[in-house]
Amino acid sequence: MNICVVGLQWGDEGKGKVVDILAEDSEIVVRYGGGSNAGHTVVIGDERFALHLLPSGSIRPGVTCVIGNAVVVDPDVLIGEIDGLAERGISLDGRLFISENAHVVLDYHKREDQLREESLGKQKLGTTIRGIGPCYADKVGRSYAVRMGDFRDPGRLGEKLGHIIDYKNKLFGALYGAEPIGVGALAEKCARYADRLVPFTTDTTELLHEAIGAGRSVLFEGAQGSLLDLDHGTFPYVTSSNSSSLGLPAGCGVPARMVEKYLGVAKAYTTRVGAGPFPCEQDNEIGQYIRDKGNEYGTTTGRPRRCGWFDGVAVAYGVKIGSIDALALMHLDTLTGLKELNLCHAYEIDGKSTTFFPANIDRLALARPVYETLPGWDEEISEVTSFDELPTAARDYVRRIEAVVGSPIEMIGVGPKRSQTIVRT
Ligand code: IMP
Repeated sequence: MNICVVGLQWGDEGKGKVVDILAEDSEIVVRYGGGSNAGHTVVIGDERFALHLLPSGSIRPGVTCVIGNAVVVDPDVLIGEIDGLAERGISLDGRLFISENAHVVLDYHKREDQLREESLGKQKLGTTIRGIGPCYADKVGRSYAVRMGDFRDPGRLGEKLGHIIDYKNKLFGALYGAEPIGVGALAEKCARYADRLVPFTTDTTELLHEAIGAGRSVLFEGAQGSLLDLDHGTFPYVTSSNSSSLGLPAGCGVPARMVEKYLGVAKAYTTRVGAGPFPCEQDNEIGQYIRDKGNEYGTTTGRPRRCGWFDGVAVAYGVKIGSIDALALMHLDTLTGLKELNLCHAYEIDGKSTTFFPANIDRLALARPVYETLPGWDEEISEVTSFDELPTAARDYVRRIEAVVGSPIEMIGVGPKRSQTIVRT
């Protein structure tokens, strides 16, 4: 079966663990968007793996890993991950395939991200400074873009880099008064990237169509979350790719209808990093409790995440635009010990009640969450292995979320390890 796993909030929902569980039954795992701004943490036994670019499923030996065309690849990060896994005895040789059409994040993209954010002051977006926005902007602009396939022809790439650096120096100098960048060091780096990455570079669209045609099972792994989607999220406080499941077809060349199941991942509460509206935010001791207990600090940047109550309106939106068949509800154990839980099932905007999430941030800024209050539980649940063993209040909370978001909950996370997952099918 071909499955897509996608985040339904503002990222960091715990997709890595869900993907890792499902990868057991998959022959191929695919990343279809985003770049090293993503951070997936997977805990196996006592080992912790933090990946940014490789699909989380890649830590399983024997699984074929694909980086699709809409992923923006930072070669330093990718080579670091390949070598890091090799040091731990996990080789990607012969099983990692990177799209020749994937765009490359180079040093000047990170510099541009940083210069732009600094110059924006209070208006900054709070990006991860991984060069994601500038690289996607160059992709859309076309004239100054580098793709993975360009590493195959060093002569032509060298010429292209000269032309790009000339343009970037003019731009950075004029806009930010920045020092010029030399082309020599970058060209040397690119030669090293080519040596290491060309062997993995191929036509991944053809590979995926052949694999699906041959009946192989594919797992598509979304990065970030649906509310950070460039077109359908809380623009401009979003990432620069289609991070909902709508990005899948364009992101790897596989039509949406070839995917048999869309599994949405949401936390039992809400978090977000960076700036932007967040109606259910609890900038108080409740938020701090969740942050500390759930270790809500960014995998990529280490930034403390903003925390709040479960936003049923936001998740229901992710379910609708993502064609979600079922949900994985993560971090239920983080809520243990809270006396009462607030669950948002509607917004009030201009005195009117709505259950449809307004992605337009001017309307969202006016939204007042309408909460219902449910009892919490004190019992430790991190060793619970079946739904029926959960405390009554926890079961009621899960069932109420199902009703509000309009999707069954098939998996429940009760701790960071793969084994700490209740499967309800
Ligand atoms: P960018 O993707 O680095 O341009 O950042 C744009 C926004 O997306 C910022 O608010 C980031 O914090 C957020 N963001 C990007 N990647 C992730 C992620 O993997 N998890 C959560 N937020 C993210």
